[in-house]
Amino acid sequence: MFEKFSFNMGKKDKTNRDEQRDLKIPKHVAIIMDGNGRWAKKRGLPRIAGHREAMKTVKRVTKEADRLGVKVLTLYTFSTENWKRPKNEVDFLMKLPEQFLNTYLVELIEQNVRVQAMGDLSRLPSYTLKAVESAIERTKNNTGLVLNFALNYGSHAEIVDAVKTIVRKVQEQELVVEEVTEQVISQHLMCPSLPDPDLLIRTGGELRLSNFMLWQLAYTELYFSEEYWPDFDEQSLRNAIQSFAARQRRYGGLEKGSEKN
Ligand code: FPP
Repeated sequence: MFEKFSFNMGKKDKTNRDEQRDLKIPKHVAIIMDGNGRWAKKRGLPRIAGHREAMKTVKRVTKEADRLGVKVLTLYTFSTENWKRPKNEVDFLMKLPEQFLNTYLVELIEQNVRVQAMGDLSRLPSYTLKAVESAIERTKNNTGLVLNFALNYGSHAEIVDAVKTIVRKVQEQELVVEEVTEQVISQHLMCPSLPDPDLLIRTGGELRLSNFMLWQLAYTELYFSEEYWPDFDEQSLRNAIQSFAARQRRYGGLEKGSEKN
């Protein structure tokens, strides 16, 4: 399930063998990018300055995740609850995908990244939707890292939609109730082709999931960082992955070799 990958834990001496580790690299990393507003406030700047800075972090974390061998990176970019924010902030957040893709899409294409999105995209302003759809289209044949933006995404809404589709299929006799398994529910969520996240990172010091991928995170390893998202850098990502690599995932079972005790 995990690929072994060797990378240098220190930034300076790439040849120092003592710093090399064989790490289990999570296939799918999901991130709740929190703390943009507080990052800006600390500097006496408007909240939107934090969101602007956040785009640079998205770029460098994407690049580093790809370099380390992560296959899927899902980023919580805008939640179904974020509409409750002041209009000027929502407007600014809605312009970010276009701004981000205008600035970085060429580089992402060079990096062989495939852009995807999940969420109710129908409510997005046309310029946001156009930018996202164009990035998806232009990168659809790329075979590298999948960069999956959760945009107007909420886990409860996702599950409600899945349930409605399944109920309809039962009514139309495409499915019988006994056939509704965990796998069937998974297949009706928004990105059925992606594996569940192996590692969830939340920055900004809050310890909650905020309606993010609740079904898919059932057995995901959680990592909380105090750092605000704009401060999160390559080393921060490596620290999170190092923490992940040191854990034993048991999926409700027992640690290998301890069955007889
Ligand atoms: C949470 O911080 C962050 C968001 C609601 C927006 C996330 C958006 C980005 C990281 C920008 C990148 C976007 C693209 C398209 C690449 P917060 O505002 O809740 O921070 P706070 O908790 O300090 O107030």
